[in-house]
Amino acid sequence: MPTLNITGKTDLYGIIAHPTDHVRAPMVFNSAYERLGIDAVMLPLNVAPETLAMAVAGLRAVINLKGAAVTVPHKVEIAKLCDRLGDNGRRVGAVNAVRFDRDGCMYGDNFDGQGYISGMKAAGFDFADKSIFQVGAGGAGRAIAFAVAQAGATSLTISNRTATKAEALAARVRKEFPDCVVTGTGGEAVGKGVDIVINTTLLGLHEGDQLPIDLGRLDPGTAVSEIIMVPEQTALLKQAKAKGHPIYFGRPMLDEQVRLIAEFMGCPLTG
Ligand code: ATR
Repeated sequence: MPTLNITGKTDLYGIIAHPTDHVRAPMVFNSAYERLGIDAVMLPLNVAPETLAMAVAGLRAVINLKGAAVTVPHKVEIAKLCDRLGDNGRRVGAVNAVRFDRDGCMYGDNFDGQGYISGMKAAGFDFADKSIFQVGAGGAGRAIAFAVAQAGATSLTISNRTATKAEALAARVRKEFPDCVVTGTGGEAVGKGVDIVINTTLLGLHEGDQLPIDLGRLDPGTAVSEIIMVPEQTALLKQAKAKGHPIYFGRPMLDEQVRLIAEFMGCPLTG
């Protein structure tokens, strides 16, 4: 156990969540710290929403606490408590990591979008000059929409069960990235004439969920990408693969986020 190696010099990191039972970040970060010989430890910080501001004020005062990953349900509220936000945190209105800088600033940013783009790049997909169809306009969907536009996509259609959310997100992405043609729609998700379909909805997490998109209406070469990690092969990916579409799993997005968040918190995962 890495915790046995904690000394008075060990740097502390946290994962702020509520509850914390399900969080995997301590295992992921601590095994990397141990493997790489980094004198740091990540602890689960179980903070109830009503005491988030108080907890953050306390964490700011802990000199050897360098940063924290942030997850459900705190991503939006903690963004409001940050002194500074990175561009992605500002665009998305939510952060999944904070850093406590020496000047007393709590700096937050969001790595969902960047993690997704880097993960796809590692798997061999480049968004430059591509035409994208994204299903979903929730928290993860917001981050991914900005990120694909930033990565050089020529067009992006956002389709969401709640059409108004897709339209509002499309308008904001257009404003930030005017070179990308962005539209938001509701109704049935039909991704014709695109290079890739991205599922950012929760559909696929549970067995028996309906498919987020009608695969029968996709062009043959269209790639299908998922951000759900468990199960690794969602029904969408299984069926897309059976029909011959190139498929991309959700896991690399998490791996890349871990790398990016560690770097952001000032403790890069390098030996
Ligand atoms: P996350 O932070 O993981 O993105 P979220 O913000 O709750 O989670 O967003 C969930 C996304 O999945 C939304 O796009 C949601 O659609 P709505 O905006 O209409 O709620 C979508 N979603 C969840 N359940 C769905 C369902 N049964 N059918 C279609 N879309 C669904």
